[in-house]
Amino acid sequence: MKATYHWGVHKFALFVVAWTTVLVTAGALVTSEDAALAVPDWPLSYGTLNPPMVGGIAFEHSHRLIAAALGLLVIILASLLWRYDERPSVRYLGLVAVGGVIFQGILGGLTVLKLLHYWLPVMHACTAQLVFVILVSIAFFTSRWWMQDLPQYEDRGYPSIHAIVAFNAFFIFVQVLAGAGFRHRYLSLKPHVFGAPIVLAMVFWTAAALRRRFPQVPEISRARVWLHSIVGLQILLGIVALWTRIVSADDPQPMLPVVVATVVHTVVGALLFATSIVTVLLCYRLVPRKREVLFATTRGEVPAQ
Ligand code: HEM
Ligand code: HEM
Repeated sequence: MKATYHWGVHKFALFVVAWTTVLVTAGALVTSEDAALAVPDWPLSYGTLNPPMVGGIAFEHSHRLIAAALGLLVIILASLLWRYDERPSVRYLGLVAVGGVIFQGILGGLTVLKLLHYWLPVMHACTAQLVFVILVSIAFFTSRWWMQDLPQYEDRGYPSIHAIVAFNAFFIFVQVLAGAGFRHRYLSLKPHVFGAPIVLAMVFWTAAALRRRFPQVPEISRARVWLHSIVGLQILLGIVALWTRIVSADDPQPMLPVVVATVVHTVVGALLFATSIVTVLLCYRLVPRKREVLFATTRGEVPAQ
């Protein structure tokens, strides 16, 4: 369906993505500073909206405030999409984003009230990444690039490029899950460390398939470079996060190097997952699926090359 580009809506969506990056950083700080239970109640903090911002309370309460502001921003974004976007799928995605942020907020509250039991912190960490990629997708769908007429490229390989990039994103998400499982002490480090070479191999395979099949498409080449660079950076950061933990094992925690390394590793994890999802969307936008090609040719339309 044809859609009209709205500069304001797209820029606002980008701002919401930037805000969510700040929120993910603030959340990761809560975990790394061991401040999750510094505020024992929810939805208020010590029965007020304005508790003394000292020690762990400062981390936990500011995370809640930034999350509340995100709630407001996402409601505004969904209203803008409802008002200005002609595509029902994008309008509904706006509503899904609102639902996702509300769900995430409740999960955060339950994490505190249930004292970090029942895998709640792991779910909260992983849903955060899902909310993040939903908002990144909205920003992508509202961009001028997405809405313009674009050349379409044929995928001659097997398995289809759509399947490869989707698997790549799936593996990265499982790796994030394993990281969150370890970070919140529900899993050992083994699945996460053994998962890293698998993710790396998956990214290499994905990037190689993209290069072989679409060497002349600048957007796809850019996505390949980003995937490679971020996965490399993330593995280095993971090694640094582990190393800072090991060398400061006998020191009183939280030590600054551990906090910085683990927070940055968590946030870059979200950026890697988002890049893998953007790659999936790029492929769906530029490469018609086999059955679309078949359908178009039986109707006498030849897919553009
Ligand atoms: C609405 C959007 C929210 C997002 C996107 C979000 C995101 C995050 C992220 C990324 C983390 C770090 C997880 C990690 O490092 O493993 C986190 C931690 C945390 N969040 Fe949220 N959060 C949100 C709302 C809330 C709310 C409303 C609360 C209310 C209590 C909350 C409470 C917590 C707590 C207690 C932690 C630390 C968990 C732990 O250390 O085990 N969050 N959040
Ligand atoms: C592509 C590969 C990797 C990805 C996508 C990834 C992603 C993540 C993410 C997202 C988290 C935090 C989860 C959360 O709670 O939100 C995490 C935690 C962690 N990761 Fe990775 N990681 C990767 C590779 C590695 C490697 C190679 C190592 C070390 C050898 C490593 C060590 C760790 C450690 C130690 C933590 C827990 C941080 C803490 O101490 O709290 N990661 N990882």
